[in-house]
Amino acid sequence: MSTAPNPGAACIMVLGTGGTIAGTGASAASPLDYRAGVLPVTQLLSSIPSMASLPVRAEQLAQIDSKDMSAAVWRSLATRCAELLTQPQVRGIVVTHGTDTVEETAFLLHQLLAADKPVVLTCAMRPATDLGSDGPQNLADAIAVANTPGAAGVLLVCSGRIHDAVHASKVHHYRLDAFDSGDAGPVGFVEDGRVRLVRPWRSAGAGGCRLPALLEVAQWPWVEILTSHACATGTAVHLLCAAGVAGIVVAGTGNGSLHAELEAALLHAQALGIRVVRSSRCGAGRVLPGTADRLPASPLNAVKARIALQLELLAAGDDRLGGS
Ligand code: SIN
Repeated sequence: MSTAPNPGAACIMVLGTGGTIAGTGASAASPLDYRAGVLPVTQLLSSIPSMASLPVRAEQLAQIDSKDMSAAVWRSLATRCAELLTQPQVRGIVVTHGTDTVEETAFLLHQLLAADKPVVLTCAMRPATDLGSDGPQNLADAIAVANTPGAAGVLLVCSGRIHDAVHASKVHHYRLDAFDSGDAGPVGFVEDGRVRLVRPWRSAGAGGCRLPALLEVAQWPWVEILTSHACATGTAVHLLCAAGVAGIVVAGTGNGSLHAELEAALLHAQALGIRVVRSSRCGAGRVLPGTADRLPASPLNAVKARIALQLELLAAGDDRLGGS
């Protein structure tokens, strides 16, 4: 679907993928009782009166609850963004998305796209039918960012804050201001439709070079996430190894430390040739590598480290490709 009187004119493209921003509920007063991914993206745009004067076009790419994000949706989103970025008339791209995995999608796009124009993901913590619906404001803010001269890179806009794709993560399950950029802080703010930067736009990501390789591969490398915790064991690691996992990201305690039993199993997995990466289950900060580390550390949180490892395995032409 597309809305534009003149398809050749400069425009912002808005790609809909579902989420609470497109969710509807039975009652305006019960914010938890709703279904995500119902309203078409054109309807989300029509709820923003000032958008009528802006060059905005819309396409529905998917209609899902983002907890169910799949490699297939990621593939089509990355492909469409890459195509649109090459079109001179496209000033920027906005992606409407669920909050639950938007940080993963943003990170993936950052890794895959040569985004010399803005690719702005946005979302909402309340469905469109709720009394306190935050979707229209977030969408208007995202479009304002995408329409800002000089803006570039993959960004996430929510609750008036602009986050970059590397640092953004969902830190609250209910608050409207559910995202944080940790120590890095936000890139800027959107205030009354105007962008105020506090640090430079993050430059384009790792680039389009990885995209063709990714699209050629029918199934992405199977990488799982485990967590270290009190009374942890190595059983899940052994089961994963037997099932053919290609990589394991482990969210360790503190600075990526691991329960001794879990660590022993992970070292065994590594010796078998399975890639193991340590992240931290702490919500902020980054794992500091040590000289005596027997398992490598990632500065990313576990969900982003998982994607980074998938891409690394792909780049290395790893042939142990399982479910994704
Ligand atoms: C989703 O992630 O699609 C549902 C939850 C949300 O958007 O807040």
